Amino acid sequence: MHGFSYKNGSLFCEDVALSTLAAAHGTPLYVYSAGTILDHYTRLDAALSGVDHEVAYAVKANSNLSVLRLLANHGAGFDIVSGGELFRVIKAGGDPAHCTFAGVGKTREEIIYALQQGIYSFNVESEEELRYLNEVAGELGMIAPAAVRVNPNVDAKTHKYISTGKSENKFGVDFGAILDLYERAAKELKNIRLRGLQMHIGSQLTSIAPFIEAVDKVVPMVKELKARHGIEFWSIGGGIGIIYQDSLESGSVDWWENQPEAERPLTIERYGKELVPRLKDLGLKILLEPGRYIVGNAGVLLTRCLYEKKGSAKTFKIVDAGMNDLIRPALYEGHHEIVPLVEPTSAERVKVDVVGPICESGDFFCQDRPLPDFQPGENIALMSAGAYGFAMASNYNSRPLPAEILVDGAIATVIRKRQTLDDVIAGEL
Ligand code: LLP
Repeated sequence: MHGFSYKNGSLFCEDVALSTLAAAHGTPLYVYSAGTILDHYTRLDAALSGVDHEVAYAVKANSNLSVLRLLANHGAGFDIVSGGELFRVIKAGGDPAHCTFAGVGKTREEIIYALQQGIYSFNVESEEELRYLNEVAGELGMIAPAAVRVNPNVDAKTHKYISTGKSENKFGVDFGAILDLYERAAKELKNIRLRGLQMHIGSQLTSIAPFIEAVDKVVPMVKELKARHGIEFWSIGGGIGIIYQDSLESGSVDWWENQPEAERPLTIERYGKELVPRLKDLGLKILLEPGRYIVGNAGVLLTRCLYEKKGSAKTFKIVDAGMNDLIRPALYEGHHEIVPLVEPTSAERVKVDVVGPICESGDFFCQDRPLPDFQPGENIALMSAGAYGFAMASNYNSRPLPAEILVDGAIATVIRKRQTLDDVIAGEL
C-alpha cells in the first residue's frame, strides 16, 4: 500500500498534486511519501511483534537525511555499509549503538570511525576481515563487537546482480566454515566480542520460500553459537520484495484483496506469520535489514516528456530524466510502471520506448511498452523509485542531481536541493 493515487484526474502523493510539485521545482524530481515510509516501517514492526526484534533500515536504499531522521524518530536502527552512511545516520540523529556495519571491504579509517562511534556490531564477511578488525581494535585498546555473515547457499530466485546467498557470490563465509571460525576467533582474537550471526540472501525476493529455506537451514547453527559463544542476536537480513508491475494499483487495499490467494504477492503479514514461529523461541534478538520494502513504493521520479521521435522501427518518447537519475532499468532490467500525472481519459495505448537524454542505448525506462499517448510538455511518474533510485544517481553526462521532496499530508518539503552546475564541478581544478 502506498500514498500515490489519482484524485479528480490528477496524480497525488498524499494530499499534494504531483503536477504542482513539478511546476514549482522542475523535473526530474524525486518525491517521497512520509506516510508510506512510516506505514511500511510500522507494519513490518507489527508483523514481527511476536519476537524480540529490531528493524535496522538498510541506509543504502535511500540515504537522504530527512528519510533517515523520520525513521530514527520512530525508533529504527540502521544497517550501514560505509563510513559515509554512518556519518549520515549520526547527522540525522540516529544512534550508532543501533547500527550494524555490513560490507566486504571495510577500510581501516571506516573501522576506526565506527569503533569510536560505538556501533552495535560489525557484520564481518571473511576471516581475514575479522582478524584485521581484531588488530585495529587492539591498537585502539578497544573490543570490537562482531557477527559473521553466513552464506547459507540458498537460491533467492532474484536477478543475478542482487542475489547474494549462493556460494559463488562474494558475500559471507561458507555455511560449513562458520562453527570452526567462531571457535578459532573465541580462542585467538582477544579484541573481538562475538555478538551475533548475520545473513542476507538477496534483494527483491517475491516469494517466501527462500526466506524459509535459509532460516530453517541456519536455526541449528544459531542455537549452537548461542550455546557455545553466548551470541545475542541473529540478523536475518533484508530482501523483502515489492510490487513493481502494478505499482499504482497496488496502492489500494482493494487491489490486494482482489488478488487470487495463490497469486497474492508476498505480504509483510505472511513474512511475519511464517518466520515468527521459527524465531520466537531462540532467545535471540532478531534483526531485520529491510531497505526496499520500507522506501521502494514510497517514492516516484517525475520527468517531463521533451520530444516524441517516430523512427521506422519504434516510437520514442524522450524524457528529461536519464539512466543517471534512475539506473535500475539499465542495470537490472528493472521494471518501473509509467503513468502520466494527468489521468488518461481514454483506454487507448501506444507501444513506445521511454528513453532519456544520455548518450547510451541502455538509457531507457521501458521498451515496447503499451502506454497512454502522453505528449511533449506533459509530465509522467516513474513509480516505485524510492529505493535505489536517487541513492544510485550520478553526475554522468555532467547532469546535476535531481531535487528530492518529502510529502507529509498536505505539506511538501524540499529535502535536497537540485544541484547547480557549480555543484557539479565543485572540487575540480
Ligand atoms: N542487508 C544487506 C547486507 C544488503 O546487502 C542489502 C542490500 C540489504 C540488507 C537491503 O536489501 P533490501 O531489503 O533493500 O532488498 N540496487 C539494487 C539492490 C541492491 C541490494 C544490495 N544489498 C536494486 O536496485 O535492485
